[in-house]
Amino acid sequence: MAEESSKALVVTIDGPSGAGKTSVSKLLAQKLGYRYIDTGALYRAIALAARQQGVSADDESGLAELCLRLTIDLKSSDSGLRVILDRTDVTDAIREPHISMLASAVSAQPVVRSYLLSLQRALASKKNVVAEGRDMGTVVLPWADAKFFLDADPRIRAQRRFEELRGHNDAPDLESVEKDMLLRDKNDSTRAVAPLEPASDAIRIDSTRLSLQQVVDCMLDHIRRIP
Ligand code: DC
Repeated sequence: MAEESSKALVVTIDGPSGAGKTSVSKLLAQKLGYRYIDTGALYRAIALAARQQGVSADDESGLAELCLRLTIDLKSSDSGLRVILDRTDVTDAIREPHISMLASAVSAQPVVRSYLLSLQRALASKKNVVAEGRDMGTVVLPWADAKFFLDADPRIRAQRRFEELRGHNDAPDLESVEKDMLLRDKNDSTRAVAPLEPASDAIRIDSTRLSLQQVVDCMLDHIRRIP
């Protein structure tokens, strides 16, 4: 049941992979009766399109043309958020492990970031949103009413990613999950444009020893105190 809320707020949740952003954002959005925006899915959709069309992650002009051609949409459905790339549902395809690293690589390209900047702002324009990503509080929605930065111990994050990926066709072992995750964190936090970092006014939460419910309760507590 959604909380009674007369406030129309923009809530952002940033942080590295495996910190629990997706589960937390979905549950928080559900509790508030807000729309959930998964911005990582947008970068993943571009990575998938680039792979399908043979455009490499370091080909700036190829990526620029690709962005001009494609359309990406996020649609709410009974089975959760669906990602639509050029009228094809790619929700499952973008979760394959090899797309994660490619998404991180294309996300370092300024041309991709500027294309997605306007799309993300348009998606959040009606407020009542919980937007999850890496630069939501710093670059995309710096005017957000509540900003959270969710982190956790790297071992725990790797373990969570490993559990998530179980059952995928080419599910990697724990060691490679941790190695890939640390590499992706490094790429995401050292890129020149919009690196992963907490906004100066973000509330930092370490989810290492907290349950999903405890993290969401902590966030709701802050949100309720917004005048
Ligand atoms: O959250 P995710 O693992 O689905 O994101 C995939 C990649 O997309 C991530 O490694 C970096 C990039 N990304 C980004 O640069 N900015 C965002 N706001 C969201 C994701």
